[in-house]
Amino acid sequence: MRTEQPQTIYLKDYRQPDYWIDETHLTFELFEDHALVHSRLFIRRNGDAGLVPLVLDGQQLELVSVALGDQTLAPTDYQVDEHSLTLHPQAAEFELAITTRIEPQNNTALEGLYKSGGMFCTQCEAEGFRKITYYLDRPDVMSRFTTTILADRGSYPILLSNGNLIASGEHEGGRHWATWEDPFPKPSYLFALVAGDLCLIQDSYTTLSGRTIDLRIYVEPENREQCGHAMDSLKRSMRWDEEVYGREYDLDIFMIVAVNDFNMGAMENKGLNIFNSSCVLAHPDTATDMAFQRVESVVAHEYFHNWSGNRVTCRDWFQLSLKEGFTVFRDAEFSADMNSRTVKRIEDVTFLRANQFAEDAGPMAHPVRPESYMEISNFYTLTIYEKGAEVVRMLHTLLGAEGFRKGTDLYFERHDGQAVTCDDFIAALEDANGVDFTQFKRWYSQAGTPVLEVDGEFNASSSTYRLRCRQSCPPTPGQSEKLPFVIPLRMALLDSEGREMPLKLAGEAHARGNETVLAVTEAEQEFVFEGITEEPLPSLLRGFSAPVKLVYPYTREDRVFLAMHDPDGFNRWEAAQSLAVDVLQGLVEIHQAGRPLLLDQRLLEVWRSVLADAELDQAMVAEILRLPSEAYLIELARVADVDAIHHVREWVRRELANALAEPMWQRFDALGSAAQPWSADAASMARRSLRNTLLGYLMLTGSSAAMSACVRQFVEASNMTDRQAALVALVNSPDEHQKHAALQEFAQRWADYPLVMDQWFNIQASSPLPGGLERVQELMTHPAFNIRNPNKVRSLIGAFANNNLVNFHRKDGAGYRFLADRVIELNLMNPQIASRLVTPLTRWRKFDPARQEMMKVELARILEQDKLSPDVYEVVSKSLA
Ligand code: ARG
Ligand code: ZN
Repeated sequence: MRTEQPQTIYLKDYRQPDYWIDETHLTFELFEDHALVHSRLFIRRNGDAGLVPLVLDGQQLELVSVALGDQTLAPTDYQVDEHSLTLHPQAAEFELAITTRIEPQNNTALEGLYKSGGMFCTQCEAEGFRKITYYLDRPDVMSRFTTTILADRGSYPILLSNGNLIASGEHEGGRHWATWEDPFPKPSYLFALVAGDLCLIQDSYTTLSGRTIDLRIYVEPENREQCGHAMDSLKRSMRWDEEVYGREYDLDIFMIVAVNDFNMGAMENKGLNIFNSSCVLAHPDTATDMAFQRVESVVAHEYFHNWSGNRVTCRDWFQLSLKEGFTVFRDAEFSADMNSRTVKRIEDVTFLRANQFAEDAGPMAHPVRPESYMEISNFYTLTIYEKGAEVVRMLHTLLGAEGFRKGTDLYFERHDGQAVTCDDFIAALEDANGVDFTQFKRWYSQAGTPVLEVDGEFNASSSTYRLRCRQSCPPTPGQSEKLPFVIPLRMALLDSEGREMPLKLAGEAHARGNETVLAVTEAEQEFVFEGITEEPLPSLLRGFSAPVKLVYPYTREDRVFLAMHDPDGFNRWEAAQSLAVDVLQGLVEIHQAGRPLLLDQRLLEVWRSVLADAELDQAMVAEILRLPSEAYLIELARVADVDAIHHVREWVRRELANALAEPMWQRFDALGSAAQPWSADAASMARRSLRNTLLGYLMLTGSSAAMSACVRQFVEASNMTDRQAALVALVNSPDEHQKHAALQEFAQRWADYPLVMDQWFNIQASSPLPGGLERVQELMTHPAFNIRNPNKVRSLIGAFANNNLVNFHRKDGAGYRFLADRVIELNLMNPQIASRLVTPLTRWRKFDPARQEMMKVELARILEQDKLSPDVYEVVSKSLA
């Protein structure tokens, strides 16, 4: 067991810092085996704090020297421990000079200053700056930074930091230097530095007010051809933020740097965004349509942070969702505007329900604004990001687009240059609109996914329809009782032809049109609609207007009707999904009882009619035809029978494929060929999505026609989307020969493309065919695999544990043991990656007693390691509590 347990930090303990740092001057001397960091800090005591010690954060630093004013301090003048440097300044304002020595080349945690391949780069959010130098490493300390970088010119011709380049020059011994100055005060987590041998892709953007911005993307030279899409996405993001939020960019230069070793997606450092190369690089030969969309949304996300995060930042890390929830909402709306709004919403809701709902029901469940943490890196979660975005979306729904914009205008104006709280955000929305969100704010303080139970009662004699709503929320760690939420329920009532009926609520003077948003605010509440002359079928929670579990006693006929007739596209998809969920859940029970499976013909008929629907957007057809994921079915189950879920889902897929093979072939053939020239437009993407969904089904029929179509597509595809879809189908087919030929060909051709090899690992790690664990173990010895690279860990080990559920949960527990071994291996090497990787084990409560036991044994084994990182300790200990 670890000797020292990490401390818990509480929101209620927040207080302002004792000192401010007005100016920060940094000089980095970069060498191959170490770096020297010289800081000069201009410090001022906060108010009349009196003679308080100055406690600077610092970790894994070698302190070389400290000087207060012009006085070099002796070791007796200060105290250093593992986490801090304590000084005793007498003056209220003073200059502090510190030199530290660090070893970026040995920094495998990828936090602070580290080396990725041949380049130096930084990741400071949340608390990485303290691994560079001693500092007040907290977001409410905002400072003006000037940064000088000195390095060998040959190996590091490019030297970058935040803001504007103000000077540069040569130094002796083949070294050179550059000085960057950032005019905007910022917290240390937004600091960035890059030094490397990079090539530059350059463009420019003219803002609405006519300023010209120099846009730069820096990548390793071999990736030069893969930056066009990121650059276009950047320009579109800049325009969108001007048009939709009235926000212009503020510096004269905006830079993006792509690095191969990165723990997360990307980082919004002021003027110098640093990206995981997987979120920048995109070329049709090497990246799928999904990857293209991810690049577009991450570029937008980081750019949007310039206002929602940088100009207005967080007071403390409990407020993380202030910038992340808001910015995810902004990037989702941007993507919706650039592509299909309905499809984007379907993708996001699918992701939220399979993943965030599981987090909210698990041992790490926490509110959007948590009250405590041990390691803040563990709180970059689906709840903070995705649920946080849902909370902002609900505010947008309640206020309407115009009211919401008035609110954000006030927020940016009132708090520009400040570090603020979620309450400040809400207050701006309230003040701009004259509303009271006191009750709404429970979304920030209460964890768990609310359940909204609704039923309806038609009264023919009074021509009324009564909608009864009941909400509840299951207990979560530390919160046994929950108060009612404000739940915006977007809805319509459909007549027997599927037309929307005019809505008028009893007691209201004005009709509400054909669709309305009801605010459900009580534990139990009724809404009575008047003038309803035939029994309606309600279309509820349209567009997933609140992150809740909706329960309504729909019959399968009702779901079929909605899937065919709901005028709302999102709810059409939702009805088909929920019909499939109902059918699959029923079949799981039948399978468990050992009875023969029989497919409900109604599911078949919905699939048949969607397949024949030439009006419907092809991407929508693909979304509807896809069955709910195993992960979602597990989330919905009380005790999940993974084997039964997998068996039944595969069985249904095969039944659908066999029964609908003919119309599937017709539609498939009508969609043209994968050999035709690639195009990026939405219609082409939709076509690829549908054709590849159909290919997946057709391959399940086992026909030789399907196999030859698939092999042909693999060989002839003009782009990676189609080639990869064919590879997935081949890998999951029983034809060992075709599978191995394709895998080998693919690996040879793309050996020099790490991101493509990530896909190659991912596809094999995700294949549910027997022997999955052995394949993954074997792949770990492949020369392209490297456990120090987070993308590789995610695409092999992460994909196995998260996407390959039958193999991961195999009965003998070997999958669990394998994952625990990898967590232990990564624990000290890269704590952030280790603690994310362990998540599937923490969900042990979902499974049968035998599996629970084995999962807990592995968690306990992890907990017994000496030198457990705080990251892993927090997640594992909480999951066993
Ligand atoms: N702020 C970044 C983003 O949302 C995420 C960086 C988080 N980094 C970390 N090590 N937890 O784009
Ligand atoms: Zn973000």
